[in-house]
Amino acid sequence: MLLALCLVLLSGDLIKASAGFTGETVELTLDLKSRSRFSLNQRFLSVTVDASLASRPKYIAFLGSQKLITLTRGLSPAYLRFGGTKSDFLLFDPFSYGSLEENIYWDQKPNQANLCDGRDLPHVVEQNLQYQWPSEERLIRQEENKEKYQNSTITRSTLDLLYRFANCSGLHLIFGLNALLRKENDVWNSTNAKLLIDYCSSKNYDLSWELGNEPNSFRKKSGIYVDGSQLGKDFVNLHELLKKYSKYRNAGVYGPDIGQPKKQSQMMLKSFLRTGGKIINSVTWHHYYVDGRTASKSDFLSANILDSLISEIQDVFKIVNETVPGKRVWLGETSSAYGGGSPGLSNTYIDGFMWLDKLGVSAQLGIDVVMRQALFGAGSYNLVDSNFEPLPDYWLSLLFKKLVGPVVLNAQLSSPRNNYDRMLRVYMHCTNTDNPAYTGGDVTLFAINLHNHAQHMILPSILSGKGVDEYMLLPGEEGLLSTSVLLNGEVLQMVDDRTLPALNGKPLKPGSQLVLPPLSFGFFVVKNAKASACL
Ligand SMILES: *[C@@H]1O[C@H](CO)[C@@H](O)[C@H](O)[C@H]1NC(C)=O
Ligand SMILES: *[C@@H]1O[C@H](CO)[C@@H](O)[C@H](O)[C@H]1NC(C)=O
Ligand SMILES: *[C@@H]1O[C@H](CO)[C@@H](O)[C@H](O)[C@H]1NC(C)=O
Ligand SMILES: *[C@@H]1O[C@H](CO)[C@@H](O)[C@H](O)[C@H]1NC(C)=O
Repeated sequence: MLLALCLVLLSGDLIKASAGFTGETVELTLDLKSRSRFSLNQRFLSVTVDASLASRPKYIAFLGSQKLITLTRGLSPAYLRFGGTKSDFLLFDPFSYGSLEENIYWDQKPNQANLCDGRDLPHVVEQNLQYQWPSEERLIRQEENKEKYQNSTITRSTLDLLYRFANCSGLHLIFGLNALLRKENDVWNSTNAKLLIDYCSSKNYDLSWELGNEPNSFRKKSGIYVDGSQLGKDFVNLHELLKKYSKYRNAGVYGPDIGQPKKQSQMMLKSFLRTGGKIINSVTWHHYYVDGRTASKSDFLSANILDSLISEIQDVFKIVNETVPGKRVWLGETSSAYGGGSPGLSNTYIDGFMWLDKLGVSAQLGIDVVMRQALFGAGSYNLVDSNFEPLPDYWLSLLFKKLVGPVVLNAQLSSPRNNYDRMLRVYMHCTNTDNPAYTGGDVTLFAINLHNHAQHMILPSILSGKGVDEYMLLPGEEGLLSTSVLLNGEVLQMVDDRTLPALNGKPLKPGSQLVLPPLSFGFFVVKNAKASACL
């Protein structure tokens, strides 16, 4: 029940409106006129597949699943980063033929013109892999817990499957090369990378490159120490090598994929950027809020934990400003909880608070791409589980793609009492104009309610006559720890392996309140808003 409202019109399109609930009044300030300095990358929301999926390369055959391809295609355009700790322990063998699982559908129809036609992962192979997967997952976890990694061999089939998956899903592949292959003088040994690039070039594969994962912890993982300045020079070598291929002369090179920017990593980033900063296309770093092994439910609902990302982003921008000003910055690998995620939390509705807020904060502060660890694979932070069932964060990501465009606007909340209520978080972008339901000038608000009571928001008077489509995401029956999610009251599920459901908004009557139930998040598209920043 709305008790108090006051509307204050400021100058031009800068509007102040208020929302009231249970006696409190919170003001919402929307600026429809000025936009962020840069548009975000069209692939802003992107995904990763962790290289641990190739610990035993036969599991890469999972990526042949038609269902997984359908789900992934929903997120296009996006990057698909193949990387992670294991990428520094993968050796390419161009002469090995690979496993039966990897080859099974290449054997069926070799040299088929269209890579994507009619080669679903055979059911019996899929079942077998799924049956064996839990024990493989345990081995992957063990390696990570002990921080002792073994080398694995990948083959032409591994690359073929990975590329086919990305290409048929409409994603651009970024492949993480092994940076731990070193010569005696500590310089990167590019011999194995060259074999791999030769192969990709021979197949005319269109992809981009990284070199090394979280180099700040190389010593812990492998006993080899590489300093930032040397790694920067290694990137320059990679760049020189790529220039020799017509296919890769202009290919993207991204790095250095440093881990959480603590003091040591910050210093490494700085020295890396001094030697290698010029040749990279974007600066990549990794972010997790919490440790998956110790995280609790309340962490996922903590405004302070969500806010901790802000200062980390600012730290990285400061270093980039000092070394390679203007260079785009990417979250190259990111999720709620490290260590594979937090079972029962990272794979349920509650993860959406961190995920949606990370997208909002990152966009607002000018992070150009956010790569979600992970789309699929070991661990519990994936968008799609190992039975190829989409989890709540998948649907949240899909909705974000459909509704949120690359131009960031400014939406602010200020309550008279708290000045700034960090428990109700509102972001605003121009609506994605690729969505046929909307046109230029429309705006998308997305909001997160960490309060355990409902929040009622009222649009400012200049927008109060406008139609609004509501897309409210609420958990399934199990509450916050549900693995299913409802959109406007309907459980989201695939129609069949080749078809995603329509994501329909619920039209609100002009002048309606925007209501966020306790502990929830959702999107509101204001139609015909004629926001000048979006026209
Ligand atoms: C992985 O292979 C490289 C190249 O042969 C070798 O230098 C390195 O010691 C191996 N690492 C492990 C953990 O076996
Ligand atoms: C997929 O491959 C085709 C043929 O090589 C290419 O034209 C297309 O751009 C690729 N798509 C992506 C998303 O890389
Ligand atoms: C680089 O690695 C290759 C194996 O991939 C090895 O044959 C070669 O000797 C190495 N070069 C140096 C200088 O260590
Ligand atoms: C980085 O530089 C830009 C433009 O010069 C500036 O707007 C921004 O505030 C700077 N950021 C930091 C963290 O220094």
